[in-house]
Amino acid sequence: MSLPALSSDAPGILFVDDEVNILKAITRLFRKEPVRVFTASSAADALAMLEVEPIQVVVSDQRMPGVTGVKLLAELRERFPSVVRILLTGNAEIDVAVDAINHGQIYRMLTKPWDDRELRATVRQALEDWSMRDEIRRLNVLAKAQNAELIEMNQLLERKVDARTRELALKNQELRKAYLSTVRALSEAVDAKDPYTRGHSERVGVYASRIARELDCKPAFIERIYLSGLLHDIGKIGIPDAIIGKTDRLTPEEYALMKRHPEIGARILEPVDFLADIVPCVRHHHEWYDGSTRGYPDQLAASEIPYPSRIILVADTVEAMTSDRPYRKALPLERVVEEIASYSGTQFDPTVASAFIRLAEREEDAFIETASKFDIEAFAAGEWKLP
Ligand SMILES: [Fe+2]
Ligand SMILES: [Fe+2]
Repeated sequence: MSLPALSSDAPGILFVDDEVNILKAITRLFRKEPVRVFTASSAADALAMLEVEPIQVVVSDQRMPGVTGVKLLAELRERFPSVVRILLTGNAEIDVAVDAINHGQIYRMLTKPWDDRELRATVRQALEDWSMRDEIRRLNVLAKAQNAELIEMNQLLERKVDARTRELALKNQELRKAYLSTVRALSEAVDAKDPYTRGHSERVGVYASRIARELDCKPAFIERIYLSGLLHDIGKIGIPDAIIGKTDRLTPEEYALMKRHPEIGARILEPVDFLADIVPCVRHHHEWYDGSTRGYPDQLAASEIPYPSRIILVADTVEAMTSDRPYRKALPLERVVEEIASYSGTQFDPTVASAFIRLAEREEDAFIETASKFDIEAFAAGEWKLP
């Protein structure tokens, strides 16, 4: 064994040979190279040295007493896989060496007697090879660490997003409840003006949303229709109680005033941000499908009338006809179906009229009776449970 000649950060090369003269000659050969040269005269010595010294390249003689070069290098491959392995061999053992190369046990093979320049060049290449592999190993470790960090960050982010989504869903539900109770309070205030129309707006909302479902409307649209139903007569707040509660026929002046309720309603709702898309539905809920002057306020026709308004008009008529009034009792559903059918295409959108008639024929009186079973809590929670 010999001591290293250079500083501890220079790469370490270990030469293994049982002939001391050869080790001496090689040490001389590498005196001017920027490497630390270690020598060992047996496989056992070499393994002991590798345990304690930072060695990057091992050049081993093949023919040694006890363990051969190929066996030593095969063991290095297992125990010190990053060490670059070079075999020095005589011509007689060329087959052994070629076999070792083919099995990936060694990096390069040199024959004895060696060429000085070739030996130095091979060792330099081996060192470069080691540096390159070392850099790859370092980058791999770095990439793995960064990858783990990214995965962790990602998981943290996902957890945050989940928590925030849940929080928002809860807030949204609270908002919907607050929104809905505001709208219902408004509609109840209107219905309270006339004892005969108590619950009218709620039932119109439910009938309209059930017709909308029959028409395959999407849940968000059905919700808008329901709210439009609740608020369609909100403008009656602005009509004198004497007119609203009057049991006799209205005078032409009173009737003209009464007909202003859709406009008044739209004006009441206009400043409320969250009711913006309900405003046109309220304004046009008394337009006739044929655009005639019997409709008001703007004599819009067919598709000019917002779809929710066309649905509400049918629901409104059904609700009015199936409720008791001071001047008449509730009418049977068959009468209502006849009325809706006879005004289909003039007052009512034929598609909407047909949807109602289908529902009425399928469900008969249950269509009217189930209106009171509308689950307002489920609706507020965003779960659609239309009766
Ligand atoms: Fe109305
Ligand atoms: Fe109404």
